[in-house]
Amino acid sequence: MGRPCHTLLYKKPAREGFAVIAHRGASAYFPENTLLSLEGAIEMDADMAEIDVLLSRDGVPVVVHNERIHRATGGRGRVAHYTVAELKRFDFGYKFKAARGEQVPTLEEVLELCAGRIALNIEIKSGAVQDVVLDGIEARCLELVYRHGMESHVVFSSFDPRALLHCRIIDPSAVTAVLYDDRYYLRSQAPAAIVGHLRADAFNCSKEEITEKWIADCAAHGIPVNIYTVDDPKTMRRLITMGVSGIFSNRPDVLKRTALEAPAV
Ligand code: G3P
Ligand code: MG
Repeated sequence: MGRPCHTLLYKKPAREGFAVIAHRGASAYFPENTLLSLEGAIEMDADMAEIDVLLSRDGVPVVVHNERIHRATGGRGRVAHYTVAELKRFDFGYKFKAARGEQVPTLEEVLELCAGRIALNIEIKSGAVQDVVLDGIEARCLELVYRHGMESHVVFSSFDPRALLHCRIIDPSAVTAVLYDDRYYLRSQAPAAIVGHLRADAFNCSKEEITEKWIADCAAHGIPVNIYTVDDPKTMRRLITMGVSGIFSNRPDVLKRTALEAPAV
């Protein structure tokens, strides 16, 4: 328990013990969860990129945040109701003038781009999680990660605790992170207890939910704690000096600069 996400990185982070995690890629500058935003994150020298994964109608893991395609494309319907070929016809870059026509990437395409270059936090979206273990989204993602030789550079996270358990049942060596959701846990439960119950490795939670007490509990148990989503340098500095292990940011360039300048803890 408590394998630091830093062991997954391709190189030593600029700030020791702290990971700059590009949230949905460098999504402040490029359409989120696209190859463009991931290429941006690599160029900005982020340590890790976070992506969201759902399943298409034909069972292919696709990299998209919302179950409905409206927010990302302006189109109608659900990701799960379209095949990959159909999803590829929608414009996932429509919000950015310079990115018009950008297609939704499959997880396979993302792995091809990222292997050997940037570690990944693959967030399995609750909408794609089922009770069955065999042939679910977790098994499909793990198979692709292995096929691209990224198993030592990927952490799986999910708001849905079933996804974490499924990953560990399929592959006991899979690295997982609890993505805290107060609908699943008692507020009285300390993060280390939750991480322990789910046999996970790290604790990810929002900047609104994190407390000094929780950070201390994680530190006492050697559990990395990563906070989402932080784009302003003031909050970044506050969290870094509180001793968090990583921050998810849509502006990985700003986070990187801030992390380098923040005083040692
Ligand atoms: O994985 C951290 C963060 O991405 C979780 O929330 O809604 O941005 O996927 P969301
Ligand atoms: Mg996410």
